[in-house]
Amino acid sequence: MRATGFERIVVLTGAGISAESGLDTFRDEDGLWSQVDLEDVATPDGYARDPAYVLDFHNKLRAGLRRVDPNPAHAALAELERRHAGEVLVVTQNVDDLHERAGSGNLIHMHGELLKIRCQACGTVRTETGDVTTGSTCAACGQTGRLRPHVVWFHEMPMGMDEINAALARCDLFISIGTSGNVYPAAGFVADVRRAGRAHTVELNLEPSESASLFAERIHGPASDVVPAYVSRLLNGI
Ligand code: OAD
Repeated sequence: MRATGFERIVVLTGAGISAESGLDTFRDEDGLWSQVDLEDVATPDGYARDPAYVLDFHNKLRAGLRRVDPNPAHAALAELERRHAGEVLVVTQNVDDLHERAGSGNLIHMHGELLKIRCQACGTVRTETGDVTTGSTCAACGQTGRLRPHVVWFHEMPMGMDEINAALARCDLFISIGTSGNVYPAAGFVADVRRAGRAHTVELNLEPSESASLFAERIHGPASDVVPAYVSRLLNGI
């Protein structure tokens, strides 16, 4: 048996893990969805109606990443991956880059990445740290006005689902961190894991999420406290 007592670990993260780094969550009081209408900034229709507004919204979020750093919760997950002899996969709904900056390597951004843009004309995806406007030109195909954030908006398919579903089916520990359990398919992962019947399930969140009752173990508190403490318990086999 591994030191953690588990072989294959899947960790799902949401906006709550980045809250103490200074990034807004979505549904908390003062969250992003209380500041802007998600139909305007996070749907294909909103983008079709006003691409300049949507690009500007994402430019501001992208610029905001330069002002924040990973917190102890991100660091603890990177340490878990480094020290655990088995598999650790982090599946994040977050579009920030704080997991990779903390050192997580086996990571799937199921809702995409703010630091990438995609050309709707040729499909090329590339890294972008600056602003994108309706006048920006794709470096690959030369078309202007076809670049969009490489993020998943409402009514679009999340990324990496085949790999995620395979990992959920074989994991023996599923940990959900800092997510309200409102957005599917991520909100359904705990039920999927329970149906497979072999994994221990744990929620680490500031408060009980919508799906809290589905978890075998629930620990509530700020991510920067509860995640390092839980990882330390795992690595010490207790
Ligand atoms: P939400 O804003 O819905 O939920 C954030 C969760 O984090 C809440 O349950 C909070 O209680 C919890 N939380 C807040 N601060 C915390 C802290 N310091 N420590 C631990 N937990 C804390 O964000 P998500 O569940 O990530 O999708 O939202 C899921 C998706 O909805 C997002 O990826 C985004 C959004 O619309 C798209 O845009 C497609």
